[in-house]
Amino acid sequence: MRDQGLIIGGLAVFLGLITFPITYNVMSGKTSEPPKLQLPAAEKQCVAPIEYMKASHMKLLFQWRDERVRQGVRTYTAYDGKTYTISFTGTCLSQCHTDKAEFCDRCHNYVGIRTPNCTDCHVDPKLIQRSGE
Ligand code: HEC
Ligand code: HEC
Repeated sequence: MRDQGLIIGGLAVFLGLITFPITYNVMSGKTSEPPKLQLPAAEKQCVAPIEYMKASHMKLLFQWRDERVRQGVRTYTAYDGKTYTISFTGTCLSQCHTDKAEFCDRCHNYVGIRTPNCTDCHVDPKLIQRSGE
């Protein structure tokens, strides 16, 4: 039993070390600080419920692309009956998320995914605005 103190001490140090990353983040408040996203100024409602958009916006974007390009569908009827023109630039980026960098890219950077290349082809209205200034 002579080693008891040593074992307990050792365990305490060990636990302290393996939980350090968590304790550190909690203490410094890092984990509780999501990125500040620039939300649309005029609109309060997205084309689908926010919980759905958070998890599945990419599915809806690809669904929009397929419907518009492969089936020629031009209008999307939302869950609340409102209708929207199916257009990434014209609807998503022009009407609501006018600053892609402060909304889309900011979150993608935060979660660490590679920024989708959509605006290689689709016009980002903000960039046009900037170059026209
Ligand atoms: C290589 C070029 C290219 C890239 C990259 C690209 N698209 Fe497209 N996309 C097109 C073309 C061309 C059309 C057809 C435009 C039309 O017929 O009106 C289209 C159509 C669409 C449409 C339906 C029409 C519209 O104007 O919105 C959506 C939605 C869409 N793409 C979403 C995306 C998303 C989301 C990404 C990124 C993950 C993406 N696209 C990346 C070329 C591209
Ligand atoms: C609140 C965080 C958040 C915001 C805001 C956000 N995204 Fe995302 N996006 C994600 C996450 C997380 C993923 C990856 C999901 C996965 O891999 O399962 C993702 C994935 C995507 C993908 C799929 C990429 C691929 O290669 O499959 C597209 C396209 C996309 N986002 C477009 C957008 C656009 C356009 C906007 C702005 C109008 C936007 N996102 C805003 C979090 C966000």
